[in-house]
Amino acid sequence: MTSAIDPTAHTSTASTPTASGHRDGETACGGCGTSRRAFLGRGAVIGAVGVATTVGLTGCTEDLQAEASAPSQHPGGSPTPALPAADLPVGGQASVTIGGRTLLLHRESEDTVRAFSAVCTHQGCTVAPGQNRGQPTFACPCHGSHFDVATGVPYGGPAQKPLTEFTASVDGDMLMVTI
Ligand code: FES
Repeated sequence: MTSAIDPTAHTSTASTPTASGHRDGETACGGCGTSRRAFLGRGAVIGAVGVATTVGLTGCTEDLQAEASAPSQHPGGSPTPALPAADLPVGGQASVTIGGRTLLLHRESEDTVRAFSAVCTHQGCTVAPGQNRGQPTFACPCHGSHFDVATGVPYGGPAQKPLTEFTASVDGDMLMVTI
């Protein structure tokens, strides 16, 4: 099933991630904690039709470079609200910022969601939901790597490693990510 979401339809609140580009002062490189002032930050929700999010091409911090070489599975932490389930229909993708970290979500089904780091495994730029030949993808703006939205596995472009996956779940009316 495909669906389209207008990322401009959301508004920012203190407790609900919203759809937009980067927060003020955040670099383009994965949102690795350059700003930790908000528990939940802004994000972008993208359906299969796709709307390009705002991404920059600025340089990356050492933290982000380290994350770019991180294991394929995030070691874990605490389940954290990421996005209201109603804001991400089955088949849709979203970019959300939680605790200063930008994550990519893919709603597999009513009961399952996948979450990945937005840090490109090539050189650490910020990957965002997009479209590739009419199909949803997670795309890197720097050198053209694409990642499968369901697995985080790269295809095309120079990236060789999958995006780091985070444990994610649908908990009632909220999508949760363990960070
Ligand atoms: S940093 Fe993403 S493709 Fe190079």
